[in-house]
Amino acid sequence: MRNKRVGTFLIILTSVFLGNSNTNGETKKLDKNAEPRNELRALNPMAVADEQAKIEREEEKIEVLPDLFNDRKESPHFGLRNLLMKQKRSTLKQRRKRGKTVQQNKTEKKRRNGFQDYSRERRSVDDERDICNRDSRINLYTSLKRFPKPLEFERIILNDAHSQKALCLDGTPAVYYLRKARDQDKRWMLFFPGGAWCSSKESCFARSQTYLGSSKFYPSMLGKPAGILSSNRSNNPYFYDLNVLYLQYCDGSSFMGDLEKPLVYRNRYLYSRGFTILNAFLDEIIPKYLSKARDVVIVGISAGGLGVMANADLISSRIPKAIKVHFVSDGGLFVDVPCRNKQHVFSRWMRNLHNFHNITRALLLECVASFNKGQEWRCLMPENVLRFTNSSIAIVNSMTDAWQLVNLKGARCGYVARYCTSYELGLATQLRNSVRKALHPITSTKKHSFFLYTCIRHCMLHLNKPWRVLNVGSVTVEDFIYRFVGGEKNVQLMEDPGDNPVCTL
Ligand SMILES: *[C@@H]1O[C@H](CO)[C@@H](O)[C@H](O)[C@H]1NC(C)=O
Ligand SMILES: *[C@@H]1O[C@H](CO)[C@@H](O)[C@H](O)[C@H]1NC(C)=O
Ligand SMILES: *[C@@H]1O[C@H](CO)[C@@H](O)[C@H](O)[C@H]1NC(C)=O
Ligand SMILES: *[C@@H]1O[C@H](CO)[C@@H](O)[C@H](O)[C@H]1NC(C)=O
Repeated sequence: MRNKRVGTFLIILTSVFLGNSNTNGETKKLDKNAEPRNELRALNPMAVADEQAKIEREEEKIEVLPDLFNDRKESPHFGLRNLLMKQKRSTLKQRRKRGKTVQQNKTEKKRRNGFQDYSRERRSVDDERDICNRDSRINLYTSLKRFPKPLEFERIILNDAHSQKALCLDGTPAVYYLRKARDQDKRWMLFFPGGAWCSSKESCFARSQTYLGSSKFYPSMLGKPAGILSSNRSNNPYFYDLNVLYLQYCDGSSFMGDLEKPLVYRNRYLYSRGFTILNAFLDEIIPKYLSKARDVVIVGISAGGLGVMANADLISSRIPKAIKVHFVSDGGLFVDVPCRNKQHVFSRWMRNLHNFHNITRALLLECVASFNKGQEWRCLMPENVLRFTNSSIAIVNSMTDAWQLVNLKGARCGYVARYCTSYELGLATQLRNSVRKALHPITSTKKHSFFLYTCIRHCMLHLNKPWRVLNVGSVTVEDFIYRFVGGEKNVQLMEDPGDNPVCTL
């Protein structure tokens, strides 16, 4: 497979951008030197890669802390883990003997790094039942505090000269980032990062004051990317030299929102222009960058993955026919799985999203026609998008996706799977069964490619190690994507149930 000619690609990075907006929503001036604010949060792959590596390092250390360890005894994996941990425990003892207070040191170190202990934070959140009952209009995004150090990607403010309508939630202009390959302009990537959604004035207002809703926090250069975005050949042998355009996610609606007029909240204007941003972005980049392109790989993760699936037909209709497009969604396969109290959290979420953001033009017509009036929101559900889209999409997803396990099933352990109780692992099994059931009618058509693994994680493509190592059978995720781009459009890989969900990746 590897000797197949790889088509050219195109990567597009979301852009970032700066702007101050006054209360009448007009962008007054752009501050090119604005520094990212530390307290801001974003599910930005570059930030995530950074943070996730850190979390992994911290997780290693957390394992030796007796308090976290002991109250997770009920996990069926405890026995196995116990063995693995023996060594670490004795290390701990030795350290203690040497008079070192490891835990204290760790806390100090974290404080120094401004890093928050993920597992502890999770453990202190509300009871699971509150997750199931939670108002889906509340704001939700992964808490990541730091933005990566500026390095490779150059910020470009969307030159939306005609309409001036491609605005982030707070009215600042949309932004994308560009990384030019050194010596080729044929292979590109468009990249759409994630960050969940907002679907009420309150939550969109809160979001408008973060990276996920305003471009004014975006630095002029974007940090060192990993995984499929890495430009380091040893980390990313197939795609390291792609040109990349990276569209920052600041609309809260997976690039689908379509409110003509701004809403007013707390004396501020709030915009929902995701669909306009996507269109303005395509208007700008196609003539400007893609005139010599042969292949464009279009990658979205999480909410960006949903955005890529839902907008795939639009994007391929806009890109000239001579260019081959390859759609990849990672972590965007959200299913309507019942929470532990039988509530259907995700469908409620999508219904609110659809209503609040006036998502209409982004919906697939054939899909809308197949549902009764008032049910159009169902066309936001990935299973329906995949059924009705004319595009062939490569789906990379965990069947026990950590984000869904936490936010849709109500298992608090999701992001640190090794702390899952047997009850929580049971919820993971339910989730996997729901995914299989939802996908059954779709996999049977062979329209799409699937790489479905069982490890409890969320989004893998933008992380160095999983990108090279994660595999189903003997096929790694990087091989899977490489083959997909090379023309194998209906490879379906599904890891067997029961395969180690608490994986070490
Ligand atoms: C804390 O950790 C650092 C290295 O990470 C080590 O040099 C130092 O001795 C440790 N201090 C204590 C009190 O354990
Ligand atoms: C590329 O990655 C390898 C392996 O992670 C590392 O050893 C090397 O220093 C990196 N090269 C650059 C230029 O960053
Ligand atoms: C919703 O979107 C449709 C289609 O673009 C548009 O005609 C309509 O005016 C929008 N409604 C609002 C309230 O913005
Ligand atoms: C999808 O394909 C069908 C049948 O070929 C066609 O009628 C429809 O217009 C296409 N939809 C899009 C969005 O391209």
